[in-house]
Amino acid sequence: MIKYLGSKRRLVPALTVLAAASGARTGLDLFTGTTRVAQAWKRQGMNVTAVDSARFAHVLARCYVATDPWAEPTLTPALSVAVDRLNALPGRPGYVTATFCESSRYFRPENGARIDAVRDAIEAEYAGSDLWPVLLTSLLEAADRVDSTTGLQMAYLKQWAARAHQPLRLRMPELLAGPGRAVRGDACALAGAPELGEVDLAYLDPPYNQHRYDSNYHVWETIVAWDAPSHYGVACKRTDLRDPSTRSAFNGRRTMPAALARVVTAVRAEVVILSYNNESWLSYEELHELCAGRGHVEVLAFDSARYVGARIGIHDPAGRKVGTVSHLRNTEYVLVAGPRARVRRMVDAVVAAGLGRPTDRPVPVPVGQPRVTLPV
Ligand SMILES: C[S@@+](CC[C@H](N)C(=O)[O-])C[C@H]1O[C@@H](n2cnc3c(N)ncnc32)[C@H](O)[C@@H]1O
Repeated sequence: MIKYLGSKRRLVPALTVLAAASGARTGLDLFTGTTRVAQAWKRQGMNVTAVDSARFAHVLARCYVATDPWAEPTLTPALSVAVDRLNALPGRPGYVTATFCESSRYFRPENGARIDAVRDAIEAEYAGSDLWPVLLTSLLEAADRVDSTTGLQMAYLKQWAARAHQPLRLRMPELLAGPGRAVRGDACALAGAPELGEVDLAYLDPPYNQHRYDSNYHVWETIVAWDAPSHYGVACKRTDLRDPSTRSAFNGRRTMPAALARVVTAVRAEVVILSYNNESWLSYEELHELCAGRGHVEVLAFDSARYVGARIGIHDPAGRKVGTVSHLRNTEYVLVAGPRARVRRMVDAVVAAGLGRPTDRPVPVPVGQPRVTLPV
């Protein structure tokens, strides 16, 4: 799975228990990102719909959530042949080499040329086929294994990361049997829309701050779009990211509360699970109130590590340390809202499994040190 800030890897065991205890057969992962929550739910037999506005997240969802290898028995053998073929292709320098290896340094040029050749072949030979999202996922994951970043694409390392010297090699994504759907779009427009239908359980994990996912992962956006966009700045971001219409309401302090309220209210699900943390724009009380319209609300708290930047500290462009390292942990809230008996059963199951603790009050943020602020 790709490196992804905000991925809920550590919450997956608790979210799995919550889903099992709810008895849900259908689920909605409305901000699916890496799709790891949707995958966990699909693995336990649920029919899941995975939604995200980012192109690369949609491709991951088409691969891991919407593709059903049982329904298409010829897919896995065809995938194996295609991966071997793509791995045998020699490099051919193109947009990725020029932009992400020469104008910037996300990949070594030999790997950039291989990404160019493989991406061209995926488009030329598999566009429109069921293999397209699976092969593209395989390429994104292969590129992620040889990149030279700390996990965000707003910058790259001054010295090549050790993994960047490894040759790019595609692997077969581990496809999950069973039905599922992938939808690309804005959660604000989709929540409540007939297109998504009604589900037993919805998981909402919106961005928590101004940092945009399509911008922080612009290299993946461009590899998926394959549209050779003009770019700007040292990070070589896509110029269209500057267009205000591409901004998510969840990345604005003023727009986020209303957007979240709209989504929580509109989503058609019996039980809603909302993730948020204790140092972002909405307080514990505001989150609680937001969810109360859906019925009984319980909150679980999870201790969590902050972004790697918080551990490294703040440096100026010459690499000198200019800030202090702030606190290293924060708290992730998971609010569960819906019919009382079901919500209680779900939360009790998580507590009994030793996977989370309930809280009925805000968990304070450590005080005293400045917070780390990342450039947008
Ligand atoms: C915190 S991440 C979700 C992480 C995910 N739960 C995981 O475990 O990988 C938030 C996601 O919301 C998506 N997003 C941002 N604004 C959106 C919008 N308006 N509609 C749908 N998705 C949006 C981002 O692309 C990002 O993938």
